[in-house]
Amino acid sequence: MSYNPTDLSTWKKLTEHHTTVEPLHLRDLFREDSQRGERYTLQAAGIELDYSKNRVTDETLNELMGLAREAKLPEAIKAMFEGQVINRSENRPALHIALRNRSNRAINVGGENIMDTVNATLAKMRSFAEAVHSGEFAGHTGKKLRTIVNIGIGGSFLGPKVVSDALKPYWQDGYDLKYIANIDGTDVTEVCKDLDPETTLFIVASKSFGTLETLKNAKAAREWFFQQGGKPEQVRNHFVAVSTNIEAATDFGIDQANMFPMWDWVGGRYSLWSAIGLAQSIVLGFDTFEQLLSGAHTMDEHFRTAGLEHNLPVILGMLGVWYHNFFGAESHAVLTYDEYLKDLPNHLQQVDMESNGKAVTQAGEAVDWQTGPIIWGGTGTNGQHAYHQLLHQGTRLNPADFIMPLQSHNPVADHHQWLFANFLGQQQAMLEGKTEAEVMDELKAKGLGDSEARELAPHKVIPGNRPCNAITFEKATPEVVGALIAMYEHKVFVQGVIWGVNSFDQWGVELGKVLGNSVFEALGNGETDDYDSSTANLIRKFRKANNI
Ligand code: F6P
Repeated sequence: MSYNPTDLSTWKKLTEHHTTVEPLHLRDLFREDSQRGERYTLQAAGIELDYSKNRVTDETLNELMGLAREAKLPEAIKAMFEGQVINRSENRPALHIALRNRSNRAINVGGENIMDTVNATLAKMRSFAEAVHSGEFAGHTGKKLRTIVNIGIGGSFLGPKVVSDALKPYWQDGYDLKYIANIDGTDVTEVCKDLDPETTLFIVASKSFGTLETLKNAKAAREWFFQQGGKPEQVRNHFVAVSTNIEAATDFGIDQANMFPMWDWVGGRYSLWSAIGLAQSIVLGFDTFEQLLSGAHTMDEHFRTAGLEHNLPVILGMLGVWYHNFFGAESHAVLTYDEYLKDLPNHLQQVDMESNGKAVTQAGEAVDWQTGPIIWGGTGTNGQHAYHQLLHQGTRLNPADFIMPLQSHNPVADHHQWLFANFLGQQQAMLEGKTEAEVMDELKAKGLGDSEARELAPHKVIPGNRPCNAITFEKATPEVVGALIAMYEHKVFVQGVIWGVNSFDQWGVELGKVLGNSVFEALGNGETDDYDSSTANLIRKFRKANNI
């Protein structure tokens, strides 16, 4: 069925309303309403969202919620939680919410309650994690497995890595966790360099067990194991797999007993909650992994049941629509004031850009409105000494999320207080900026003459009125980290519904993979006739440099 959000009456109203809001300055909005900070703050699942520093009025929020209703967001949320086929191009539901459905409410797919298989897999993960801890599942010489190496890429790497990094303070004593993802041989070489073959467990995490990088790296790791004296029959002690493809994993030498299932109704970028999280569940301990799932479930329940106006993912998603479709903003920054969350922007890049980087609707019709933004970011305060210049004085509008725990896992002197001061200072600068009059006063107070001050002033003026969200929580506990990631997953879903795209397929990444395979052949046999002159030239150079 044809869908065009720009035809909706609320979209048209918002277009009109934008002309009223565009000239307003956040500075004035705050001055006119002393309660704005409190009024535009929401809590759920241990997370507090202060969205007061956005270029919105009550009317804007009203209209945005109207758009969500007119675009049938409540119906779409219901459809996802009921397990309806919302990933239409692949004819599947999208049920990452089932993986953390701690209420155990039945979710039926094809007449079967999938909670049975979800729970059985979680039980298998728990007993495996416990067997590794106890030494019941040990290396080939009987030593306990202490270093876990996750071999996987994309969603089989980025989300799991955010979880293990974010929850470093909860790691079990005596365990280490490493990741191999890239096809660049440096990745596997550097990781394997320090491994002990007797105490290392490789987890090959690949939904398809067909991803080039993962298969090549798994083979390289197995080769390394053999070079260290390991025997083929000992592969089963050191390699396990998480996959939907049992046949391919068996061919690799992995014991069926040590395979953990995945399902096609879980997208790669939404899979950290599944057995793809096996490595994290070992290093964190299964109870902690379950707390992560519980936090995500609490956010799911909030998303499923809270009214749109009080719904964190809905507010975040609709604010994004406001900026991307009405203000023309092209990117969104995720700025984490928590070293442990440094990889969150990378994970959200995949979640958001692989989900909503689409140019056709669910019905296959070309869109003529903007869809997924560019997601970028990093840790504060490091970013302040780099790209924040553009945030404050650049020509582009870059909405940003500032994320920070109120308490640190590592209190050092007054570091955390300084970190929080910077977290707030940056947001204040985005909001208030610095007017020409303020700059002039400042320069004159420093003793500059009028003409000298006038010459310098334009360089020091900061326009302000740059929108941001403040996302805080007491401490980055497993529950909070689960809720935080789930909140962003749902934000992406909200936007996908408004834009009418399928947020759960990723055909765009397929073409590059296919072409890469054919170039690989050409690098070996030197046949360049079918290529453009640039590709052919670079193929020749590579062959020469590597004596092929
Ligand atoms: O990049 C495409 C993609 O399919 C991602 O969606 C996925 O997370 C990644 O590749 C890895 O896939 P797999 O788990 O099947 O190896």
